[in-house]
This record gives sequence, structure tokens and C-alpha cells, in this order.
Amino acid sequence: MVKMNKTKILLLENIHKNAELIFRKNGFEVENISESLNEEKLIKKLQNIDILGIRSKTQINEKIINNSNLKAIGAYCIGTNQIDLYKCNIKGVTVFNAPYSNTRSVVELAIGNMIFLIRGIFDKSLELHRGIWNKSAKNNYEIRGKKLGIIGYGNIGAQLSVLAESMGMKVLYYDIEDKLALGNAKRCDTMEDLLKNSDIISIHVDGRESNKQLIGNKEFKLMKDGVIFLNLSRGHIVDVDQLSENIQKGKISGAAIDVYPNEPGKYTEDFISSLQKLPNTILTPHIGGSTVEAQTNIANFVSEKIVDFMNNGNTVSSVNFPNLRLPELVNSHRLIHIHKNKPGILAEINHILAKNNINIDGQYLKTNLDIGYVITDIFKKYDKKIIVELQSIKNTIGFRILY
Ligand code: NAI
Repeated sequence: MVKMNKTKILLLENIHKNAELIFRKNGFEVENISESLNEEKLIKKLQNIDILGIRSKTQINEKIINNSNLKAIGAYCIGTNQIDLYKCNIKGVTVFNAPYSNTRSVVELAIGNMIFLIRGIFDKSLELHRGIWNKSAKNNYEIRGKKLGIIGYGNIGAQLSVLAESMGMKVLYYDIEDKLALGNAKRCDTMEDLLKNSDIISIHVDGRESNKQLIGNKEFKLMKDGVIFLNLSRGHIVDVDQLSENIQKGKISGAAIDVYPNEPGKYTEDFISSLQKLPNTILTPHIGGSTVEAQTNIANFVSEKIVDFMNNGNTVSSVNFPNLRLPELVNSHRLIHIHKNKPGILAEINHILAKNNINIDGQYLKTNLDIGYVITDIFKKYDKKIIVELQSIKNTIGFRILY
């Protein structure tokens, strides 16, 4: 049984201070540790912890999950590869992340890069730092009126489309899914169409395995001569050596790359790439989404989802749990039952309630492949023995009551 003011939270990896503020405001106890912890230290620390907040460094494996009583994990980042989501699922640990909190930051960097590249600003600045005054309008253009081809019209691609159009660009996009065009953007039926017709190409597909080397020599060949090329999505999506060759031979007149197939894991590791020292090539160290605003948004988003989960049972936008949006809990108790996805469990819950003469105020069920999530709101009075009965239903993974 969880009492809200006793919920204990451990935040690792220097999560933005808003997270702590939100949890404290809601009566939770918070401990902050600035670094990530290894398996052994983490397991020790997790005794009596209900909720863990991490960023991308802390690895959450089966052993950690099995040796804790976590109810939820907040991934204060976009990706959740560092967490064994399946094990979380079958142990009833709900995981939340912040998939959209840095969308705007990536889009702004893409826009800025396009303008810098089409004006050759980056190289001109480097020259001026070396004392060379190269004032010229040659090969300098506005982005207004240019055709921007966006590959991957998801959260980032679609937002880029809106901003680019508002700056006078003509937007073409290609997505493998049927995505609705925003504004006057034109959908291309094939990627080939987009590659052939765009002045600037920006990649915003997700990192699924089948997108490995989506853009290689064949695709570069289809592009217009002098095209500007941006990749701020994932490193393995572009054949970097082919990109380098195409920049060197002038097929690509400018490139902005934020992500690489091999990114250094630590600050002390050197970065080595065939893209270094190429003309009109802006290289950034995977910082597309790294802004103070994005960190603040992430802290707010994930913490509020967790508070809502703890206070109301809502699992909306959880990465691994069946997503349930529940009404606010008013004047009743909420029984939260998590179980393996086997037939007949809802019937068993209701049988126990009926036999104990308990009136159901509202009931909600959602399942995924592995688990079922049942919420039952009941009127105030109940005999405590039903808790034991509900907990002992076969295939129960977790149970708690909200007051
Ligand atoms: P999203 O999942 O909302 O959108 C991806 C879109 O790409 C989807 O509409 C999908 O249907 C489409 N897609 C997938 N494969 C495709 C293909 N082969 N051809 C055409 N369309 C395809 O993802 P979101 O949030 O827009 O992120 C886009 C990319 O940006 C991701 O790879 C993400 O990891 C990356 N990213 C990079 C950041 C950075 O710091 N540079 C920060 C945030 C995200």
C-alpha cells in the first residue's frame, strides 16, 4: 500500500532541478545524486526507493529490476535503450520518457545550419579568425524560395516543415507512413522524387535498423548538383564516407552533421571522422536536442507523468505499459491491479469484489502483449481482507490502492 507522502524518489545524473521541485511540491521524498551508479551501487541504493529517475548513462538491467521494488522509472531523455523494458513490463515497473521535449531545439538547429550553409558563413568565419577578409556575394543565397526536402515527417520533420515554410521555403517531404501535409508542404510518393527535386535535404527518420545507410552513394547521385545536406537524426542512417567523397567532389555544396556512426562515449575520447576538415561542413557533437529549454521541458514532462501515475494511476505516454487515461479520483478508492496478460483475471477481480459486497464506481482495463492493467474505483468502505485476496490472484504482478 502506498501513501503518497511517503513515496521515495532517487534522481541520478544531474537531472534538471525542476524534477525535484515538482516531486517535493507533491509531497514526495527526493534524493539527488549527480552521477550515474553502477549495478552494485544502484541495487544497494534502490532499497526502499519507489521511483528512479535517470538519464542515458545509467543501465537498468534485469538484475537491478529484480532486486528492487520500483514502481516507475523516469527516463529524463528521449531514448530508452538503456532500460530493459521487457523486464520492467513483467515486473510491473512503468517507464516514462520525454520523446518530444527537444523537438523544437533540433528544428532550430536545422534552420540555423541551413542559413549558415547556403551563405558559407562557417568557412567565412574560420577565414576571418585567420585574418582573411573575404567579402563577397558569390555563391551566397537566401533560403527563401528554396526547395527543402524533408525525409521523415515525424515530430521533428513536421515542425521543421512549418518553420521552414514560414520563412518562405517550399517544402517537399517523404515518409514511409501516410503523414498529413502541414501548410502547403507537398508529399513525395518516393524518396527518389524528393532527392531529385530538393535544393536542401534534411534527414529526420527514426533510427530503426532498416534505416541503416538509408542515404549512400546511390541516393547522393540522385541529388541535384550543389545540394545542401543535413543529418541531425541518427549516425548510422548516412554512409559518412560516401558523404565525405560527395562533399569533396562538390556534388554537395554544404553539409551539417550532428550525429555519427561512432560517437565518442566520453569527453576524453577523440572524435575521428572522414568529414573533418571538409569545406562548408558544420560538424556538431550530437547537440541537436541539447538546450536548457529542452532539459527544462524534459524535467517537467517526465516528472508530471510520474506524479500523475502515482496519484491517479494514469499511464498515458508510458513507453512500456498499456496507456490508460483515467478520470480524476474523487471520493472513492482506486484499486490498481497489474497482472500477466492471461484470460479471466478481470472476472476474478470482479468476483472477489462482488462476493465482498463492494460496489464498483468505475472500471478500466487495458492490456499489451505481456501485461494487463486494471483500474477499479470503489466506494469508500471496504474490508481490508479484499486487498489480500486481490493480491493473491494467480498471475498478479503488482497491486496498490490510491485514496
Ligand atoms: P518520429 O518517430 O516522430 O519521426 C520519424 C519519422 O520518420 C516517422 O514519421 C517515420 O514514419 C519516418 N520514417 C522512418 N523511416 C523512414 C524512411 N526510411 N523513409 C521515410 N520516412 C521514414 O521521430 P522524431 O522525434 O521526429 O525524431 C527524428 C529523428 O531525430 C530520430 O532519429 C531521433 O533519434 C533524432 N533526434 C536527434 C536529436 C539530436 O540531438 N540530434 C534529438 C532528438 C531526436
